[in-house]
Amino acid sequence: MSTTQGALRAKRYESFSAWRTAVSKGREKRVLFVPTMGALHPGHAALVEAARRFADGEKEGACEVVVSIFINPTQFDDAADFGAYPSSPDADVELVSLAGADAVVFPRLQEMYPDGVPPHVDRADFGSLTSVLEGAERPGHFDGVVAVVRNLFQWVKPSAAFFGEKDWQQLAVVRRLVDLEFPGIDIHPVPTVREPDGLAMSSRNRRLCEEDRALSPLFAQWLRRVAAGDSAEWGQLCADGEGALKARGFEIEYLTVRNAGTLEEGPLVRGGMRVFGAVRKGGVRLIDNVACTF
Ligand code: PAF
Repeated sequence: MSTTQGALRAKRYESFSAWRTAVSKGREKRVLFVPTMGALHPGHAALVEAARRFADGEKEGACEVVVSIFINPTQFDDAADFGAYPSSPDADVELVSLAGADAVVFPRLQEMYPDGVPPHVDRADFGSLTSVLEGAERPGHFDGVVAVVRNLFQWVKPSAAFFGEKDWQQLAVVRRLVDLEFPGIDIHPVPTVREPDGLAMSSRNRRLCEEDRALSPLFAQWLRRVAAGDSAEWGQLCADGEGALKARGFEIEYLTVRNAGTLEEGPLVRGGMRVFGAVRKGGVRLIDNVACTF
């Protein structure tokens, strides 16, 4: 964390238009952008800190670290999940201020969706990147992510944007979007931040009951066990992991080793494979991924 910035409070804007008005009053800075859906935790702080470090390495005053907080309705395939998504705006402003943000913007729904929330947004078809894993389990999810990230990028016009590796597939989808439509934006991946017991930090973790929270590190443990295995053992290790997790009350959506670039089973590339998992515990959905040692 930047100590100079940590003491300062990020400026809070209740709309993109308010932020844009402030920006147009005399400042022409490059924007380092951290898009979020709020309910922020140390994983998000790591994104803001990475942006802050980048800004501090540039000419003084050349860059502004901007965080957006918008719970995007179009990326939820399940209305109950959307309704239950946690929100903590005041704590979020505090967290991003301490992590070194200059501004935090709460876009208005109308700014993101001027004609109201559409029942369906345009289909984002990036081949396997949008059709496998999360794309298969959550139909329409990446359509919503692409729609909102496109709108956010159009409002913010960042020079760089920071995304967490916990949502590895989202990172791949955003990279493809940028290649196709926003060639000027640099995408910076930030490693997953974990609880001391290994559980990947997520806004959804706060919905785990005490008992499920205590069991949840088993998920990351199995990902690590598969990731450490020989490629010839991956199939068996995934099956063993599924069995062991099911025995502890987890519902399994997938546990699988994939090429980190294509997200398909192949090609098998040394240093380029990851194990991906999605499970539910007590109705709370957890996803995670780990690089294979192979
Ligand atoms: O990762 C998230 O928090 C969201 O998917 C994002 C990128 C902010 C789009 O709503």
